[in-house]
Amino acid sequence: MTATQIEAILKPSAKERLIVALDVDSQASAREVVSELDDVAEIFKVGLQLFTNAGPGFVEELVSAGKRVFLDLKFHDIPNTVAKAGIESARLGVWMFNVHTSGGTEMMTRTREAVAEFCVATERVRPLILGVTVLTSMDQKGLMEIGEGTDVAARVNRLAELAFSSGLDGVVASAKEAAEIHAAVADPNFLVVTPGVRPTDGTKDDQKRVTSPSAAISAGASHLVVGRPILDAADRRKAFLDILGEIELAA
Ligand code: C5P
Repeated sequence: MTATQIEAILKPSAKERLIVALDVDSQASAREVVSELDDVAEIFKVGLQLFTNAGPGFVEELVSAGKRVFLDLKFHDIPNTVAKAGIESARLGVWMFNVHTSGGTEMMTRTREAVAEFCVATERVRPLILGVTVLTSMDQKGLMEIGEGTDVAARVNRLAELAFSSGLDGVVASAKEAAEIHAAVADPNFLVVTPGVRPTDGTKDDQKRVTSPSAAISAGASHLVVGRPILDAADRRKAFLDILGEIELAA
């Protein structure tokens, strides 16, 4: 097999890089979105709103239907509590979950170790664990307000390095920071999952640091998380496929 053929097998397809955020208020609405995108989308993100409404049963339903689930609950608590929440995420069969990097290295390391041990003992595939750096709705002013005077980029890089040294698989960050994160973290496989993605002609909603799908991929994003540009579209399938097309062109 040639190097190009091997690369083609290893390289994730556009579908494996586009995560649909199921930011809706009921299982019925979430099922509607999943069914509209059924033959095209592979990865769905269940976040705070839907999880609080529908609970773990809905996550299991998606997993049983063969979907990959990114459980976006952004755990932020003492190490023992986050590690145990991580184990429960693994028990649900999610593909990916996340913790706040500002919870510190002990919290991240303990979570990674506890989840890995649990998955070996129960013969499961370990979920990918991401660290949240700085929310893409935050800008310099927002950081100053909460007493974090450092600039956004420096803070993101620092938190990404901590996530990497704590054994996490990647970070959630704005695509605007992706290149710098790759420069700061030596491992090219370190994931940079980017929300705040907006098609060029779209609205920004409450996201302050937005990037187009192609720019995000070119900047080094491994995965894109897209919510409202798909959920609010008159034709969700078309909106998804348009973004997928942009990823394919840029990849
Ligand atoms: O609708 P929109 O495309 O802005 O949705 C982005 C999704 O990504 C939301 O579910 C939001 O909670 C999530 N997210 C984010 N910024 C982060 C981490 C997650 O916007 N840093």
